[in-house]
Amino acid sequence: MSPAPLTDRHGRTHRSLRISIVDKCDLRCTYCMPEDQRFLPREELMTRAEIAAIARLFVEHYGVTKVRLTGGEPLVRPDAVDIVRDLSALGVSLGLTTNAMSLDKHLDDLIDAGLGSINISLDTFDAERFRRITRRDGFGRVRANIGLALQRGLRVKVNTVVMRGVNDDELLRFVELTREHPVHVRFIEFMPFAGNRWGRERVYTHAEMLGHIGSVHSFEKLDDDPHSTAKAYRVPGWPGTFAVISTVTEPFCSGCDRLRLTAEGRMRNCLFAREETDLLSAFRRGEDIAPLIEANVLAKQAMLGGLPPFRPERQQDVLHDLSVRPMVSIGG
Ligand code: 5AD
Ligand code: SF4
Repeated sequence: MSPAPLTDRHGRTHRSLRISIVDKCDLRCTYCMPEDQRFLPREELMTRAEIAAIARLFVEHYGVTKVRLTGGEPLVRPDAVDIVRDLSALGVSLGLTTNAMSLDKHLDDLIDAGLGSINISLDTFDAERFRRITRRDGFGRVRANIGLALQRGLRVKVNTVVMRGVNDDELLRFVELTREHPVHVRFIEFMPFAGNRWGRERVYTHAEMLGHIGSVHSFEKLDDDPHSTAKAYRVPGWPGTFAVISTVTEPFCSGCDRLRLTAEGRMRNCLFAREETDLLSAFRRGEDIAPLIEANVLAKQAMLGGLPPFRPERQQDVLHDLSVRPMVSIGG
């Protein structure tokens, strides 16, 4: 039987699934985790077997072809490598988003388990600034682990959240990384989530980034995959690329093919969704979760989970609407 694609009421077919496997993290980035964040008790997290079974349904029944594991920090979960191995056996294109704090301990096992690509979060090249942003020490480790991942031949993306007045003066240093390595740097506009003190004025915009980089380097636009969230560029002749994820100033929702599962097994059809579908409880009761999945996808809003565009004058409304979850418990 060929898989039934998950199509929403706006005609978008969904083939990409992000699975958060744990809501904890060994860093506490200010833009992601509120200071008083509480974590889920272990029995509420999906088990390794539950993750594999639910993912298998998405892949075999609904034709999902891409799976990305996120957190929190996925590598703080003791069975993270086993989960990578399970999902890799499903024959999907499998990625992992990590802060790379403990990547050196797991890298060989991850590659052996079938991981081919990795997204590493890094917002600064300054150790003191790293400490301010993440509320922990770790710049040296993360920097070294990016090098290790490249050395091992993994496809490496570096995710950088750009915040005005925090790290907007470091864009060129990150672009420089694409001269040194075949790395894909992605500058992400600072997005509003519960407890992250977002303000429209703190968003360093896609247009500003291109102006800033263009004042020093000439660069060219690359073709983007129709489902890509990033607009990609390259300095001609350099081995790496850079891209901008412009969720705030230029949302790309019309090509979105992503679905999400939180660590406690709730399905979200959008990063900004205010409604979730509890798949895990139904699964644990032995019920068929297929109708829940289909209803969740069908209800997907056309844009930004139904929020108004992030215009400066709407800031207060947006923050009010976004009080549901912080990013650390959604999974990037
Ligand atoms: N705005 C933009 N990106 C964010 N991330 C986490 N919080 C935010 C935010 N408020 C990114 C992290 C990581 C990925 C999981 O999500 O940088 O790379
Ligand atoms: Fe942890 Fe990543 Fe969130 Fe930072 S952005 S607190 S590293 S999950």
